[in-house]
Amino acid sequence: MKEVILQTRVSVCSYDELPDADRAVVDVARCATAGSYSVYSGFSVGAAVRLGNGKVVSGSNQENAAYPSGMCAERTTLFWANSNYPSEPVEVMAIAARNAQGELEMPITPCGACRQVMLETERRFGNAIRIILYGARLCYVIDDGVRALLPLSFDSGFLE
Ligand code: THU
Repeated sequence: MKEVILQTRVSVCSYDELPDADRAVVDVARCATAGSYSVYSGFSVGAAVRLGNGKVVSGSNQENAAYPSGMCAERTTLFWANSNYPSEPVEVMAIAARNAQGELEMPITPCGACRQVMLETERRFGNAIRIILYGARLCYVIDDGVRALLPLSFDSGFLE
């Protein structure tokens, strides 16, 4: 049997080392945590995307007493962006989080369902999303798109 190793390329840097254009999107994601409705988890997540037309839009997690009815920040943001700008590719996505103690030191990484929606967005517009995961101490930058976070994924190619 042949073994195949799948690798993920992640750049690690401090917030200050990010390019200005990335920092701008990260700052919107950090601010977006303020709009989080996270009364059950106390975990506020913000996401921001920069679209092909240069607009930056954001969203946050919205929880519900019926837990599965809540929505993550990433999907809130992507669904809003894709609803309001259906022709604009998503070029960059930044994600940030805070809890009762403040901003997290290390980046959070999107859940599986959000990765799947990010993949659909990439397929829809035909470009890889630059993903920036913010942490107060370190940031991760993924330049190869969501495939790096979701190897062996299911996409529309299987339905053809
Ligand atoms: N959450 C997000 O919004 N994005 C993530 O990437 C991970 C988790 C939310 C869902 C829930 O409201 C809270 O964080 C705790 O899981």
